[in-house]
Amino acid sequence: MIGRLNHVAIAVPDLAAAAARYRDLLGAEVHAPHALPEHGVTVVFVELANSKIELLTPLGEASPIARYLAANPSGGIHHLCYEVPDIASAIRSLTEAGARVLGDGKPRIGAHGLPVVFLHPKDFDGTLIELEEVKPELQPA
Ligand code: CO
Repeated sequence: MIGRLNHVAIAVPDLAAAAARYRDLLGAEVHAPHALPEHGVTVVFVELANSKIELLTPLGEASPIARYLAANPSGGIHHLCYEVPDIASAIRSLTEAGARVLGDGKPRIGAHGLPVVFLHPKDFDGTLIELEEVKPELQPA
């Protein structure tokens, strides 16, 4: 079902400092910050040859990562994002198998403008998993 690792998301207390570390210390290609008020986060994408890193910091009062940062003040790995070709069929087969989709169980538009859902970390070895629908024809060769 799952395809490529789309990104690893890291929650950070200081987005500018984290972006500068990836750019200046690690020599990575770092994009400009991108506010996603509907998701309660500001993100910076870091391009890697084979995947991406998503640096996340809270935006607004009801940010879903505020609690995570309160528990992990210096930041930490927040979720992994796997690509799926058909998110509706992925949700169907996962929920039939007893896995829990967070929220209302319906896909929302994620940071890349594509449908995403999150799966309950207790069902996946303590790891928060994001599934992002990337149609096969949109995947890089
Ligand atoms: Co993500």
